[in-house]
Amino acid sequence: MTTVSFDEFERSMWSGRAEIFSDSVATLCAHTAPDLLDAAAGDGDLSGLRLLDVGAGSGTVARLADARGARVTGVDAEPSMVELAAKRVPGAEFRQAILPVLPFPDATFDATVANFVINHVGDPVAAAAEMRRVTRPGGRVAVTIWPHPKPVAQRLWDEIFDAAGAVRPADMPRVDPAVDFARDQAGLAGLLSGAGLIEASAVEVCWTLRIHADQWWAGPAAGIGLTGLILTSQDEATVTRIRREFTQRTAPYRGPDGVLAVPTAAVLARGTVPS
Ligand SMILES: C[S@@+](CC[C@H](N)C(=O)[O-])C[C@H]1O[C@@H](n2cnc3c(N)ncnc32)[C@H](O)[C@@H]1O
Repeated sequence: MTTVSFDEFERSMWSGRAEIFSDSVATLCAHTAPDLLDAAAGDGDLSGLRLLDVGAGSGTVARLADARGARVTGVDAEPSMVELAAKRVPGAEFRQAILPVLPFPDATFDATVANFVINHVGDPVAAAAEMRRVTRPGGRVAVTIWPHPKPVAQRLWDEIFDAAGAVRPADMPRVDPAVDFARDQAGLAGLLSGAGLIEASAVEVCWTLRIHADQWWAGPAAGIGLTGLILTSQDEATVTRIRREFTQRTAPYRGPDGVLAVPTAAVLARGTVPS
């Protein structure tokens, strides 16, 4: 499968799914927002910072940055995300843009962030270079991704699918190996330094995801992510088995209120545009 079809999958996968994303997977993504902004700001002070939030989704990072005094511009490839984010964060400006092309002149922003977006782009190398291009000399680029090997929360889905006998679609979208990177600290820092950023470094961020079991099910059930692609490709009997396995295998993490507490992790990297 080519890079183009990876991006085509992404466009159709997110299409019209802003609300369901916001009610489900956005909870998972939200944890890293403060650390991501700290990494972008350098000294932690965001006031007056011209910040670009790429792949802004339903506006979690933009809202926090706006509350911390940044002058926020958000972009997303998916129109329903742009609409929802604009409603949520009236203090920021949002428009549609699709990595690896950002419709801004060179050096427009003091800092550029992307929270769990580089992992949704068919050409991450070009995307990182574009984020660098729109950031001013001395400014920072900061990004997060999900690591491999997968943390417990994400690995659970693989265990559930395997136990239910779910067959993965033969044509799972994949990034072209020529532009791919290792989904770990060295790989993500290397992606940023390869884009010409200096002092590139990465850390692992670990936390306990707290989300209601129904919300954790709802994102993939609505087709979000590769997990959603696998789930929605199954026949009815297999989906029933998956749901049963989901209930059983999430039980050790579930409180009496139905809220799961599951360990998860991300990789956060940042780099500086040379002066
Ligand atoms: C996992 S969500 C993260 C959203 C948000 N950053 C957050 O932390 O909640 C990924 C977002 O990236 C957007 N996206 C995917 N590919 C993109 C691309 N090539 N250019 C811009 N946005 C993209 C999706 O539409 C989606 O809103």
